[in-house]
Amino acid sequence: MDLSLVDKIQELKKQRKAVILAHNYQPGEIQDIADFTGDSLGLSIEASKTDADVIIFCGVLFMAETASILSPGKTVLLPDKHAGCPMADMITAAQLEALKAQHPQALVVCYVNSSADVKALSDYCCTSSNAVKLVNNLPKDKKIIFVPDQHLGKFVQEQTGRDMILWPGFCPTHMRILAEDIKTARKAHPEALVLAHPECGPQVRAAADALLSTSQMITLAGKSDKKEFIIATEEGILHSLKKRHPDKKFYSAGDKAVCPNMKKITLEKVLWSLQDMRYVISVPQAIRVRARRALDRMIEVLPEK
Ligand code: 13P
Ligand code: SF4
Repeated sequence: MDLSLVDKIQELKKQRKAVILAHNYQPGEIQDIADFTGDSLGLSIEASKTDADVIIFCGVLFMAETASILSPGKTVLLPDKHAGCPMADMITAAQLEALKAQHPQALVVCYVNSSADVKALSDYCCTSSNAVKLVNNLPKDKKIIFVPDQHLGKFVQEQTGRDMILWPGFCPTHMRILAEDIKTARKAHPEALVLAHPECGPQVRAAADALLSTSQMITLAGKSDKKEFIIATEEGILHSLKKRHPDKKFYSAGDKAVCPNMKKITLEKVLWSLQDMRYVISVPQAIRVRARRALDRMIEVLPEK
């Protein structure tokens, strides 16, 4: 029998005792074959507690590295080794070391969108869903270095009133969403609630009704009395939103917010990944141990429901 691609993946997944984790920005067909879909925090928690032998991470490199650090006994595979995150690459360990030397008393909080090396030099790691809560819990007399996303950093600074040094990194995909796009979408859908990701620039953040992580958007859309939503983040989330809430309407704020790295994962590559057990993502022991401390602190802070 000629098994379809999806059937072959499911069959091999069983043989390998693998679990498929997919980020909310993944192509729809990848989200549909995943055992778990979620935001960065949800997927990290899933990776830390899975009893599978193999984790197929459908996302980008920093996510697979995070899974490997949290689950060192498992084999973590990234189906496309070139699926990186340009924002994570905007700060190196050497640059963070130099910044820390300028502010030796400051605490370092890194966004999970960062390399394992940067996490190893950080005191805390956070995601977009728990950044405000995590920073609010830090000793009030401490200055905070926040890397690499200036926009999430600025949002946290505004919410917490803390003294923060922001690294000038950004997400090129979220930068393509403009305040003008929100205005146009609001005109077309005046009843809709605008949900934006905190990686968006200041004008878009100001034009939004709520700033949320991807999974928080899915939860809020379910709880809200509203029937229509304008979504200002990477377009892959529209698939999960429509699937989870078929009775509601979702519109993308513009059509330019596509993350080319998230779209590198295809069904064929997932199958090849399972067949050839590639590409293995592992983190050297010395980095892993130090990065784990920051990540354990991240997964302890659950966002408000
Ligand atoms: P969240 O899904 O955690 O909101 O992250 C967004 C993101 O940019 C992942 O690369
Ligand atoms: Fe990185 Fe932005 Fe793509 Fe997320 S959407 S992986 S932050 S480039």
